[in-house]
Amino acid sequence: MKRILVTGGLGYIGSHSVVELQQSGYEVVIVDNLSNSRADVVDNIQAVTSVRPAFEKVDCTDLDAMEGVFKKYAGIEAIIHFAASKAVGESVQKPLLYYRNNIVSLLNLLELMPRFGVKGLVFSSSCTVYGEPDVLPVTEDAPIKPATSPYGNTKQINEEIIRDFVKAQDGVNAILLRYFNPIGAHPTALLGELPNGVPQNLVPYITQTAIGIREQLSVFGDDYDTPDGSCIRDYINVVDLAKAHVIAIDRILNDKQKERVEVFNIGTGRGLSVLELVDMFQKATGVKLNYKITGRRAGDIEKVWADPRKANEELGWKAETSVEDTLLSAWKWQLKLREKGIQ
Ligand code: NAD
Ligand code: WQD
Repeated sequence: MKRILVTGGLGYIGSHSVVELQQSGYEVVIVDNLSNSRADVVDNIQAVTSVRPAFEKVDCTDLDAMEGVFKKYAGIEAIIHFAASKAVGESVQKPLLYYRNNIVSLLNLLELMPRFGVKGLVFSSSCTVYGEPDVLPVTEDAPIKPATSPYGNTKQINEEIIRDFVKAQDGVNAILLRYFNPIGAHPTALLGELPNGVPQNLVPYITQTAIGIREQLSVFGDDYDTPDGSCIRDYINVVDLAKAHVIAIDRILNDKQKERVEVFNIGTGRGLSVLELVDMFQKATGVKLNYKITGRRAGDIEKVWADPRKANEELGWKAETSVEDTLLSAWKWQLKLREKGIQ
C-alpha cells in the first residue's frame, strides 16, 4: 500500500481528501497541529471509511518534529500539503503569522522530501492568485496579479518556491491545484467545515443563519457589474475537489506528468452570483433565509470563475455534484453539528 503524508489532514478539505485517498487504496499519515480543527475528525474519517488513518499532532513549522514523522513512517511516497492559515482578513491583521506558518511549513517539507526519497508534492493553491481576472473564464496561464492580502501572497510565494525547488532538485515533482470556492460537506454528514467564530465565507454564514446562530446574512453589495449586481464565484463541491487530489497523487506516482510542475484550476466552470446561491439554498432545503443587501466588502473580487478544461482533459477530472446537492449537504452538516452540540 502506498503511503501518503497529508498535512492539515484534519481540516475541511484535508479530511475529505483523506477519505478519498483511503477509499482509493492509499495509506494515509496525517500531520495536523489542530490550530483550526478537532482531534475527533480522525474518528469521523474512520466512521466513513472503516480505516483509522495514522495521526500525529505536529506543527509543520517544526523541522525536527517533521523529520521525526518521516522517520517513524518510512517510505512516504508523496505529500499533499493542506496545512496553512487561511483567513484573508486575519492575514491583514497578523501578516507575520501568515508568512511564518504558510512559508516555513512548505520550506520544511521541501527540505525533507529528497532526504526521505519523497517523489511528489500536491499543493493547495487558490484562485486568489488571479486577483480580478481580465478574461473569464480564467485559465491557468492568466497573469498572476499582485496579491491583495498577505494570505494571497503566501500562495503566490509558495507556488514560486515550489517551482524553484523542483528546478533545482531532481526526483521531486509537484502539482499545484488552484481551488476556486470549495463548499458543502460529506454526504454522510460525518465531515464538513468547522468555522472558527463568525464565518467569513458565504456558505457557512448561510447555514448558520438558516439554523438561527446568526440573525441575518449580509449580501455584500448589489451594485457590481454583474447581471443581478452581486459578486460571482465558482462554487466547487468539496468531495469533487478531494477527488482531484487522488488523481494528482496517482499522476505523480505513475509518472504521468507532462511537466515537473503542473498547475490545474479546480472549479466547475460555472459562475454563480451570491443572490443566485442564496436562492438555490432556499429552494434546495426549503428553508427561508433572512438576508439583506449591505455595502460591498473591502477587497472583494467582482467576478471570477474557472476554465476547468485543462483538469477535465489532462487529469480526467470533472466536477460532478450539482450545486443544489452540495448546498443540501452543507445544510445536513449544519443540522448534524447542532445534534452534536458543537455549533
Ligand atoms: P482548514 O483550516 O480547515 O484546514 C487546514 C488544516 O491545517 C487545519 O486542520 C489546521 O489545524 C492545520 N494547520 C494549519 N497550520 C498548520 C501547521 N503549521 N502545522 C500543522 N497543521 C496545520 O482549511 P481548508 O479550507 O481545509 O484549506 C486547506 C488548504 O486549502 C489551505 O492551504 C488553504 O489555504 C487552501 N485553500 C482553501 C480554500 C477554501 O476556501 N477553503 C480555497 C483555496 C485554497
Ligand atoms: C463569496 C462571495 C462575498 C460572506 C475567499 C478567499 C479566497 C479563497 C476562497 C482561499 C463573495 C459574498 C460572503 C457573507 C456575502 N480562499 N459574501 N456575505 O471571497 O470568494 O474567497 O475564500 O484561498 O482566497 O478570499 O469567498 O465565501 O468569503 O465569499 O455576501 O457573509 O460571498 O462578497 O462575493 P471569496 P467568500
